[in-house]
Amino acid sequence: MATITVLDKVFEPYIPHTKILTAVEKMVDKMERDLADKNPLFLVILNGAFMFAGDLFKKLHFPAEISFIKFVSYSGTQSTGHVRQLIGLDESVEGRTVVLVEDIVDTGISMEKVLEYLSDKKIKELRIATLLFKPNSYQKNFKIDYIGIEIPNDFIIGYGLDYNGQARNLKDIYKIVQ
Ligand code: IMP
Ligand code: MG
Repeated sequence: MATITVLDKVFEPYIPHTKILTAVEKMVDKMERDLADKNPLFLVILNGAFMFAGDLFKKLHFPAEISFIKFVSYSGTQSTGHVRQLIGLDESVEGRTVVLVEDIVDTGISMEKVLEYLSDKKIKELRIATLLFKPNSYQKNFKIDYIGIEIPNDFIIGYGLDYNGQARNLKDIYKIVQ
């Protein structure tokens, strides 16, 4: 099998682009049923979700908007899980249906911080879409409405996902060779 080397680690092909797109299409089918008459705002969590969001949004055939947010964790002394917003929200989300778009939910800690940040924004209906989900790693309780592919706890790269900033450009997903 054709492995690739990224920085100091070796990765092997794992999820081909065609399988990713099939999963995205299934998510879109479910979204059509749930959201077609709600003019939802797709709120993409940067950086990792940009590629998934592009393919997802192209496949939608109902009125919808897209915007992007980027968070960093506070680096102060608190360990309360607060996050600081680096990009967006430049529009009001009050009274809207919002779909958070994430590349991967692993422990769920990052997404929980985003939910906390949005909790006082008077969103009418909040849904979560993630291309990838690691159920064996997940520690939280919030509902994930749209899941593309469930995977074991392997470290993966490609299709937006990075290893130290590298490999986001790969159109297939690769997993680390232990
Ligand atoms: P969580 O907070 O543990 O759910 O992790 C979510 C974030 O960690 C994702 O948005 C990714 O940025 C990163 N992440 C988790 N698993 C992987 C992986 O296998 N490869 C690359 N990044 C990952
Ligand atoms: Mg991410």
